[in-house]
Amino acid sequence: MTAAFARILVVDDEPNQLVTMARILDREGYEVRTAPNGAEALARLDDEEVDLLITDLNMPVMDGMALLGELAKRTPGPSTVVLTGYGTIQSAVEAMKQGASDYLIKPCNPDELKLVIRRQLEIRALRREVSSLRREVGRHQPFGAIVGESEPMRAVYAAIESVSRNASTVLLSGASGTGKELVARTIHARSARAGEAFMAVNCGAVSAALLDSQLFGHRRGAFTDAVGDHEGLFRAADRGTLFLDEISEIPQALQVKFLRAIQEREVLPLGATQPRKVDVRIVAATNKDLREEVARGRFREDLFYRLNVVALRLPSLAERPEDIAALTDHFIAQMAERYGAPRKIVTRRVRQRLFAYAWPGNARELENVIERAFALSDAEEIDLADIEPALESRAPEAPFTPAAVLPTLEEAERTLIAAALERASGNKNQAARLLGIDRQRLYRKIDKYGLD
Ligand SMILES: Nc1ncnc2c1ncn2[C@@H]1O[C@H](COP(=O)(O)OP(=O)(O)OP(=O)(O)O)[C@@H](O)[C@H]1O
Ligand SMILES: [Mg+2]
Repeated sequence: MTAAFARILVVDDEPNQLVTMARILDREGYEVRTAPNGAEALARLDDEEVDLLITDLNMPVMDGMALLGELAKRTPGPSTVVLTGYGTIQSAVEAMKQGASDYLIKPCNPDELKLVIRRQLEIRALRREVSSLRREVGRHQPFGAIVGESEPMRAVYAAIESVSRNASTVLLSGASGTGKELVARTIHARSARAGEAFMAVNCGAVSAALLDSQLFGHRRGAFTDAVGDHEGLFRAADRGTLFLDEISEIPQALQVKFLRAIQEREVLPLGATQPRKVDVRIVAATNKDLREEVARGRFREDLFYRLNVVALRLPSLAERPEDIAALTDHFIAQMAERYGAPRKIVTRRVRQRLFAYAWPGNARELENVIERAFALSDAEEIDLADIEPALESRAPEAPFTPAAVLPTLEEAERTLIAAALERASGNKNQAARLLGIDRQRLYRKIDKYGLD
């Protein structure tokens, strides 16, 4: 859309005003439509798409404020500019709170009218461009920053792909550091909401009262410290995505309010009398078993079912050791950029150690191990001494210690095969797959090294 070919709807109950404005806009090359009140404006909007709406505030049948309220429920609606008299600037402020983008004071000066309209249309065109570029970028890097080609990760990609197409509520579960927040952001970035806000809140990090006002907002004076109006994350995420981390920690009292907000699609800010409509996609995450929390009476069952519309469990790193190498390289590239340093080389001994390690802290722990190697050493290589102290649990079957001398190729191979068998709980097909060799070859090696 170029600004010049935009369609504009002017709403005013004074016929003269409509004629004057229509004439000015028509001369600028815009396609102009008119309506005498809010109700007729809405009817017009049902018939055809409009880029910009200019509306008077005082009108019979349905006034400008009510019209703005109705428009707020439609996505994506036109941008709106309100017309207001000199004495009623306060109502312009009110209108902007209701979602109007700008205002003009009557009687309006044609140059100012043209300027304001051009500016609003440009903003609208830019917004559209940004969101289409974002979608484009998303297509080229299919799953953004998520790394891993293992079977369990492919299942995760398939699930992301399908939930990105709609706005259903998603419940992510998985141990700490498995990438829940990363997946939540990816779902948002691949959805039609990509151009709108992604808001995140950690339900376990603040007090119940603070979480209440963070989520639902408050009016000035609703409580002692409420010095101004606060819109709350639900409204800030309107048309976008709200990510609720550690959802199991949401206090009982807020669970009811939260349930109501998702059911009714509206929020009532503290101290407010009118509920506000919101269109928000919810993605919640937990590293606890929410069903168990329900069974123990700590989490409302009805809320659980509302959240568990699409459940997506993220695999631990131990379930997908074949991704460790790619993740290591990914974090090395990332840290090299962050530290403005060259990428480091990972020695084979380190690769083997990383592969054999159990990763209780999952991808985040691996990220920390690599970051530590960048923070503590300028060496070109990452060697065992750079990683060993950072590994949380030392595997007793640790193949090498920092003091170990360089193993022979056969020693290294034996250790790697033993680690793969252990990881695959003795399942030889799986071990062969982890090692990237066929089964026959694995059997020969097992014989050779006496590993059975
Ligand atoms: N598959 C992956 N590919 C690339 N990076 C990943 C992957 N999984 C996790 N990460 C990275 O690991 C770190 C931890 O991930 P994230 O914060 O999303 O985990 P989480 O499940 O939310 O953890 P927690 O429960 O501790 O909050 C992040 O820096 C993230 O970018
Ligand atoms: Mg997290």
